Amino acid sequence: CGIVGYFGEKSAVPILVEGLRKLEYRGYDSSGIAVMEEGGIRITKSVGKLVNLEEKLGNRTYNARIGIGHTRWATHGRPSDVNAHPHMDCHGDFAVVHNGIIENYLELREWLTAEGHLFRSETDTEVLAHLVEHFYKGDLQDAVKKMLAKVEGSYAVVVLSYKNPDVMVAARKDSPLIVGIGDGEYFVASDIPAVLKYTRKTYIMEDGEMVTVSAEGLKFSDFTTGECVEKSVFEVTWDAVAAEKGGYEHFMLKEIFEQPKALRDTLAGRLNHDHVVLQEVDLTPKEVALFNKVAIVACGTAYHAGLIGKGLIEHWAKIPVEVDIASEFRYRAPLIDDKTLVVVISQSGETADTLAALRESKKKGARVIAITNVVGSSVAREAHDVIHTWAGPEIAVASTKAYTTQIEGMILLALYLTQAKGTMPKEWITEIISELGKIPDKAEIILKEGAERIKTLARYFEEVGSAFFIGRGLDWAVAQEGSLKLKEISYIHAEAYASGELKHGTLALITEDTPIIALATQRDLYEKTVSNVIEVKARDAKVIGFTFEGNTDFHKSVNEIFYIPETVNELAPLLTVIPLQLLSYYVSVARGNDVDKPRNLAKSVTVE
Ligand code: G6P
Repeated sequence: CGIVGYFGEKSAVPILVEGLRKLEYRGYDSSGIAVMEEGGIRITKSVGKLVNLEEKLGNRTYNARIGIGHTRWATHGRPSDVNAHPHMDCHGDFAVVHNGIIENYLELREWLTAEGHLFRSETDTEVLAHLVEHFYKGDLQDAVKKMLAKVEGSYAVVVLSYKNPDVMVAARKDSPLIVGIGDGEYFVASDIPAVLKYTRKTYIMEDGEMVTVSAEGLKFSDFTTGECVEKSVFEVTWDAVAAEKGGYEHFMLKEIFEQPKALRDTLAGRLNHDHVVLQEVDLTPKEVALFNKVAIVACGTAYHAGLIGKGLIEHWAKIPVEVDIASEFRYRAPLIDDKTLVVVISQSGETADTLAALRESKKKGARVIAITNVVGSSVAREAHDVIHTWAGPEIAVASTKAYTTQIEGMILLALYLTQAKGTMPKEWITEIISELGKIPDKAEIILKEGAERIKTLARYFEEVGSAFFIGRGLDWAVAQEGSLKLKEISYIHAEAYASGELKHGTLALITEDTPIIALATQRDLYEKTVSNVIEVKARDAKVIGFTFEGNTDFHKSVNEIFYIPETVNELAPLLTVIPLQLLSYYVSVARGNDVDKPRNLAKSVTVE
């Protein structure tokens, strides 16, 4: 989603529309603005592209000098005029735009409804408008502070009130927000590109901060303690193109670095000490007990997330699992019936083969759950249940944050089925849930501490024609994704092999010019993996090993080593893949390729 706000002397509408246009590259499904007019707050919103909003606004001259705007990437509630932001309270006195997820919105909505509030949309955001109305006692800043104390989740939020028409209040927690300083005017935005045309002077808001914008200027404070916060100006030196990428050189790198947040958002509200909560999946334990098979169907990277899912569901929930590439599934007359749980995985929710597999499965009577990143996509609309990944828009063709959040979706589903079947002890589920909660921070550590090291290791690949990725069990599944990444953007021929299978043919291809990526994060398979590594090293191959921190033995068997923070075997894929994504990225850059738009590939393949 994108946020833009204007407070100044100029006409707000064109500035808001222009700001939203600058956020268009992120992809969105609806947009809207709210402006402070003489008689009240005027809201205009529209589903679809920005031109739809512009058409609605028409050629009229607007006098408003204060306003907020939003482009929406649907989370709670499908894309529609009603669900588009800004949202208002019952009396139209307060308008709110919001990025992020309000985790306890259902609870708050129930409470507010009992208090007499009438809800119009299906969004989590609307509770914010009603909460501000509820707490408003003459001071907008105070009402927003009280509203924030009630909500759990992530947010960048901007609020306007007709009762305090000369102020604008904004706050952030786990979702970006900046304030741009113009000449007697202020801008609030989720992203720098929205304000770059008007100013390069900004304040970057930190988590837990709020700002009150008024004719007197800006007042920053900590919204928990109420204390004032002193901030220093951040002078933006990026050009418009770099600004779109948040200062990163490519969207892919930006998206790799967005993973801790994407992983956190996808888990938000779904982990509850000793059980997972999947509000979107409506299966009784009795229904789960009737499934005699799970069929996972997807394409590309999503298929690789499915391979991890197979390992987990079989291991934990004790249900046999098949994983198919969607284009194969359709034509192999799969044995699917009403005792099959079909899981389709698709970032875009629009991949033609995946959609066709979904339809075919429904026709055969199967229950279909979708794991998708796009609310309101075809896959999301047509599946019986949907587990959304909250990765946010993914722009680079090579998928990164969508993959790791798809794995999380698979983990959550596997735990959900396990709970229903009672196939694992409660203490074990509690431990996995606690470990899962720590994954986003560990991902952050890899990115902070490991990126430079990976850049160095990338040198091994600059000149080679071929590379192999080896591993066992879940490491093999991750190896397949690592190899796909390298192929996609570096154009190096890469293969992933189950380490134990190498000696049945592939070993003939190994020479000193073939770098090998060896994954060794599965403790129970470790000794066997080491033997396979020794086999390839004996053929003079250069081996780069990836293992967990405590395993200081592995460096003896490899040429180079990269350590991954400790976690349980089953969750290791969420971390192991991150350095592999970085590796492909740096190799691609070194080879001068078009990283974000690799040759011959498309982000979403809507043809068979
Ligand atoms: C294309 C993309 C891949 C993606 C695959 C499946 O090939 O380039 O990155 O994994 O489609 O897309 P989906 O949107 O269904 O996950």
